[in-house]
Amino acid sequence: MSQEHLDYEDRVNLGSYYTPPKFVQLAWELIKPYIDAQTTIIDTACGYGDFLKNYGQAHTIGYDIDEDAIKIAKKNTDKVQFFRTNSLHNVSREKFGIPQQSTRLIVVGNPPYNDRTSLIRNKIKQVDFEIDGDITSRDLGISFLRSYNKLEADHICVLHPLSYLIKQTNFKHLKEFTANYKLIDGVLISSGEFPESAKHTPFPIIIAFYQRDTNGMDYDYIRSFQFRTEGETRFCLSDFEYITSYIRKYPSKQDNPIPDDSLFFWTMRDINALKRNRTFVQNYSSNTIVIDKTKLDYYAYVDVFKRNIHRLPFYFGNCDVPIDDDLFKQSKHCFISDTIRHHPYLEKHFQIEPIDKKQVESELEIYFGLLLDRHQA
Ligand SMILES: C[S@@+](CC[C@H](N)C(=O)[O-])C[C@H]1O[C@@H](n2cnc3c(N)ncnc32)[C@H](O)[C@@H]1O
Repeated sequence: MSQEHLDYEDRVNLGSYYTPPKFVQLAWELIKPYIDAQTTIIDTACGYGDFLKNYGQAHTIGYDIDEDAIKIAKKNTDKVQFFRTNSLHNVSREKFGIPQQSTRLIVVGNPPYNDRTSLIRNKIKQVDFEIDGDITSRDLGISFLRSYNKLEADHICVLHPLSYLIKQTNFKHLKEFTANYKLIDGVLISSGEFPESAKHTPFPIIIAFYQRDTNGMDYDYIRSFQFRTEGETRFCLSDFEYITSYIRKYPSKQDNPIPDDSLFFWTMRDINALKRNRTFVQNYSSNTIVIDKTKLDYYAYVDVFKRNIHRLPFYFGNCDVPIDDDLFKQSKHCFISDTIRHHPYLEKHFQIEPIDKKQVESELEIYFGLLLDRHQA
């Protein structure tokens, strides 16, 4: 069983959610072709060492901050060198005993990805979480990626939230990393497949395979990257147009002063947030957008979209709301009728005669079928 030696608090604090074997296998399919007799393979957050298989490489090394996990790992195999350490402190090849001459260094694993500011205060001593200044981040996962760059690994094959790459602000936080690495393959999996995860709103995780490359990659490279899914489908961000081309996602200073007859909409972050949050709201707060009434149709679109999120596969979770504007214009009547049915107070703001529910449903079915095409849940 996974991480069974830890109680709930330690699991949360250490980000200890061990990886189901089929994902370890998928990662190995990616790195196998790059392993030879001089290769060193290292996992600096190795848990019981499940990512450390033998494929004829010269050295196999596992580290973890969790002493008990390391004890168990040592019992499981004697072909790997295991040590306890805080892998984010004093990061260097020397510290990890990586031979300077090894022809190829490959990092594997599933480092923790949790927000350090939300640690549950308990036994884990503050000192254990000391992190080198140049790799510090709120998110442990980002610090781990930066640590691999410090080690100048030739290849990195790790699991991490897809949001690190596809959210532009996160991508910017990875500046030193993305200056030196290029994503060469990536398989999207759902956090819902991890035994202890929250099942209601799974988020996308990528099994990411990076190659050291001093040309690095920019955000456009990610926008046009063909992500693989476990099935045959490929997912590419730039295959879609997004609602952000038409309306703002966040409140703005321009909203003030607020006119008396204003309409309000809840802040939009990404699709997973839309799933949890409201859309049209009747009162102003710091989380509401003051609607530009010339764009009201697009807000109706997002409102209808929320009721149809179940049609999307998990990997859209951190994306903005996709839209096909030409198709939307053709079916606008249906979207607005659906919004009015759910928010009758809005009727007077639209210049249309709402149409009947059955017709709305069948047209929306067609719209979403065409929008999502091969990406239906
Ligand atoms: C998601 S688990 C992965 C375990 C294992 N590689 C697997 O996937 O089955 C993350 C691991 O990172 C370890 N960890 C967390 N912070 C660490 C740190 N600063 N240094 C080393 N290991 C750390 C945790 O103890 C935990 O075992």
